[in-house]
Amino acid sequence: MRRLNIALIGAGRIGRSHANILATIPNVIVTAVCDSTLEAAATLARPFAARATVSVPEVLADPAVHAVLITTPTPMHASLVEEAARAGKAIFVEKPVADSLQSADRVVRAVQEAGVACQVGFQRRYDPAYQEVKRKIDAGELGRLEGFRGVGRDPAPPPLEFLKTSGGLMVDMGIHDLDSARFFLGEVAELYCTGGVLAAPELEEYGLFDTAVATLKFVSGAVGTVEVALRTAYGYDIRAEVLGEKGRLHIEMDSRFHLRQYGAQGVRYDRPANFEQRFQEAYANELRAFAEAVMNGHPVAPGPEDARESLRLALAAQYSLETGSIIKVQQFGKEVHA
Ligand SMILES: NC(=O)c1ccc[n+]([C@@H]2O[C@H](COP(=O)([O-])OP(=O)(O)OC[C@H]3O[C@@H](n4cnc5c(N)ncnc54)[C@H](O)[C@@H]3O)[C@@H](O)[C@H]2O)c1
Repeated sequence: MRRLNIALIGAGRIGRSHANILATIPNVIVTAVCDSTLEAAATLARPFAARATVSVPEVLADPAVHAVLITTPTPMHASLVEEAARAGKAIFVEKPVADSLQSADRVVRAVQEAGVACQVGFQRRYDPAYQEVKRKIDAGELGRLEGFRGVGRDPAPPPLEFLKTSGGLMVDMGIHDLDSARFFLGEVAELYCTGGVLAAPELEEYGLFDTAVATLKFVSGAVGTVEVALRTAYGYDIRAEVLGEKGRLHIEMDSRFHLRQYGAQGVRYDRPANFEQRFQEAYANELRAFAEAVMNGHPVAPGPEDARESLRLALAAQYSLETGSIIKVQQFGKEVHA
């Protein structure tokens, strides 16, 4: 395939960001933008001279559309992936792959049956620092792995309307750190998560949390923590640390520019303000990898089965956060919680 025609479904925050990246990838054309609000679709479609529509079936019935990017709110992911798979389209879907394990299972089945490519948007796996940590772990540079620490803090909560359907703090946001925990150290056996409403009191009425900490025990015996918060006074704060018998790898918040200003008040440097700035390169890498894999008939990653296991972990953490229980992760969703 020499050229990839992509339709975007969902013209919101991340949809707009992805569309701008797609415009920079050679041989990729955004041919249609679909949103339940025609105005949002039309605004995003205009610079690409793409068709704007509110109709998903219209997009999926178009044989000129080779692939779809699904960037709608989370509750629609699973059914849209199923429909797109049945229509034979290659699929890129934002995280989380679904809002329940049952619907994630349906996604896995639909993608397998249709034999289409399906990549899930865990962009940190495409960030150069995360890839380097993974390479060093696989090369044995840390020896036996003993610990993980993930920190994910947003500068300010997203809109309440978004949070209400997001699946909760650990499913929407903690899932990135939990996915990194799996990416680096493998599956988690047991977890406990606690948290509170400290920054945004309006969340309490909807049973939502803005701050949480999860403790993890990996199948390997290693231990770890994931700390998540929806508000900081100092900007976006994403960190990851892996501890091994031979040392420690630490992904700090990168400075945005390689410039430091030294003055009487101390040292100043600019930091990324949000996910778009911090993971700009990662988003570009994941979308380029998707497009190139589809055009060349190569496999994509992470696929829906892998993403379902990160969802299992995130749902388990969310359940623990809401109930105070200690969860056996590998059984979660298969027994009492099914
Ligand atoms: N990987 C990341 O770092 C990252 C960052 C932000 C968001 N996300 C994920 O992306 C998804 C979207 O998040 P967002 O912040 O862009 O949300 P958003 O609310 O800003 O945008 C969603 C868009 O989808 C449209 N929409 C809703 N239902 C639709 C339907 N049935 N068909 C077509 N369009 C529909 C809405 O009108 C809206 O324009 C979420 O699942 C979120 O978890 C991922």
